[in-house]
Amino acid sequence: MSLFQSSTCIIPDITAVPSHIAVIMDGNGRWAKQRFMPRVAGHQRGVEALREVVIACRELGVEYLTVFAFSSENWRRPSDEVSFLMSLFLKMLEREVAKLHKNNIRLKIIGDRSRFDDKLQKTMQDAEQLTASNTALTLTIAANYGGRWDVMHAVQTMLKEHPHLAQTFAETDLQPYLSMSDAPEPDLFIRTGGEQRISNFMLWQLAYTELYFTDVLWPAFGRKELETAIASYQKRERRFGRTSEQLLDK
Ligand code: IPE
Ligand code: IPE
Ligand code: MG
Repeated sequence: MSLFQSSTCIIPDITAVPSHIAVIMDGNGRWAKQRFMPRVAGHQRGVEALREVVIACRELGVEYLTVFAFSSENWRRPSDEVSFLMSLFLKMLEREVAKLHKNNIRLKIIGDRSRFDDKLQKTMQDAEQLTASNTALTLTIAANYGGRWDVMHAVQTMLKEHPHLAQTFAETDLQPYLSMSDAPEPDLFIRTGGEQRISNFMLWQLAYTELYFTDVLWPAFGRKELETAIASYQKRERRFGRTSEQLLDK
């Protein structure tokens, strides 16, 4: 599928394994609470779940894995939880990046980084640079990310570079300025933790993604649960507005 054509116009090749999976990793706090542990213990275990899912995706042949780690709304949490998440993010990058690189995994971070401290910003940049030419899997972490922010930011940047587009512009003009412009749109969206909402994640890119919700809390999610989600995806018929019969003629 051309990356610069809207998913609403093109039927991507439906492969047995989704080439792009997007995940809202939710339920860390509840996982910890069930075990009479502080919420932050759930975040810590969440990193381990992510590690397992990244390895499984790489082995299954998923090309892009995009995970929501911190939303633009999560700053509203108690300040000690926010600072714990920031230091966990830094530690995770410092500890895991060499391993990602060894496994030929490219790391990308999307979101508004300007609110992170200098050290975290620098570590993010170094991690992206180190892994930039890896090809086995692209792991994108959304941090201080919001779907509306993404669209607004893309429009603003596009207009700064091409003021004449203020009159009118097409999807293809905007596409290169969106944060996921170098990836195909997600085939499968997974949200753990039981809530059935998008919470401002990838609003633009999820237009025709297959949605999968599970009650499993993120720290308890692993390879087996990922395979269950993929099996559910494989039973879907993606019509993109067409009829079932038209798909047979494709
Ligand atoms: C998701 O788990 C992780 C982040 C938002 C950082 P939560 O912390 O939202 O866990 P619950 O939803 O309170 O259980
Ligand atoms: C969404 O989880 C964001 C992340 C997983 C990073 P939340 O737990 O913050 O979502 P809401 O606010 O309950 O919808
Ligand atoms: Mg939550």
